[in-house]
Amino acid sequence: MADLAGLVSDIASRLQAATDRGRVADYIPELAKVSPRHFGIAVITADGTEHVAGDAGEAFSIQSVSKVFALVEALSRHGNRVWDRVGKEPSGSAFNSIIQLELEQGRPRNPFINAGAIAVTDLIAEGRSPGEGLQSILALIRRLSGDETIDLDAAVAWSEAATGYRNAALANYMRAFGTIAGPVDATLSVYFQQCAIAMSCRQLARAGRFLMAGGVCPVSGEAIVSPERARRINALMLTCGHYDASGEFAFQVGLPAKSGVGGGILAIAPGRASIAVWSPGLSPQGNSLLGTRALEQLAHTMRWSVF
Ligand code: DON
Repeated sequence: MADLAGLVSDIASRLQAATDRGRVADYIPELAKVSPRHFGIAVITADGTEHVAGDAGEAFSIQSVSKVFALVEALSRHGNRVWDRVGKEPSGSAFNSIIQLELEQGRPRNPFINAGAIAVTDLIAEGRSPGEGLQSILALIRRLSGDETIDLDAAVAWSEAATGYRNAALANYMRAFGTIAGPVDATLSVYFQQCAIAMSCRQLARAGRFLMAGGVCPVSGEAIVSPERARRINALMLTCGHYDASGEFAFQVGLPAKSGVGGGILAIAPGRASIAVWSPGLSPQGNSLLGTRALEQLAHTMRWSVF
């Protein structure tokens, strides 16, 4: 087997020096302040070994990676009722697109595009105060990472709340169809805050371990989700986790993975590893450019593609 420790540090030193780094997201003003020079990687294997390099200890805005944890929380609370609200199909459109909602009677294609994630967050917030809804997502992430210090970056949440007109449009549109049942403002406030949760690559890779291990946290032995549910979440990450670049990501990398516009990606090599990468520069589809390149090199060398 390839030398994983050497590979991780080799990937980091090559990508730290890369010149073509993509564009940092600027539609959330607070994210535009982050330097594109960052690169971090954390790989945790099934035996618990952690390999980290670059800025793996520095917290960044997890943004859409939070949609994985929100989905886990909604499924734990509501079971398969979640699938009455959102579908399981790749959208083939941008993460913040509205066009399919009208054509498909307000039902988002999947839980990872913004519309689907807002509908999932609405289910989490159902019958609770916005604060309780957010705390349930944070509590899950803290439990999965074994780290009580994880919190949200309030400046990022405010920055998105002040400029999130597209998400407000998506939420209001879905409210008209009944896909969202609660007050739109409350649902959006939980959604913006969950996206503003800040984590390092190391914390994120730890939080993803249950998805590599059939739904069981390998450290505590706790069943977070059933093996079937873990398999299904991985299936959705593979088919929908990179929006309209999901096919390309499956083609190049071949791992279930979820990206965020903060530049983070959580990737799962089932039975083998939980991986987090971070580099803030994005591709035109809003996925980390160097993060994707790192995962390509890692999956290729380790032969970790699921195909
Ligand atoms: O709702 C938004 O636009 C952001 N809070 C999250 C979008 C996102 O991370 C898309 N991912 N690549």
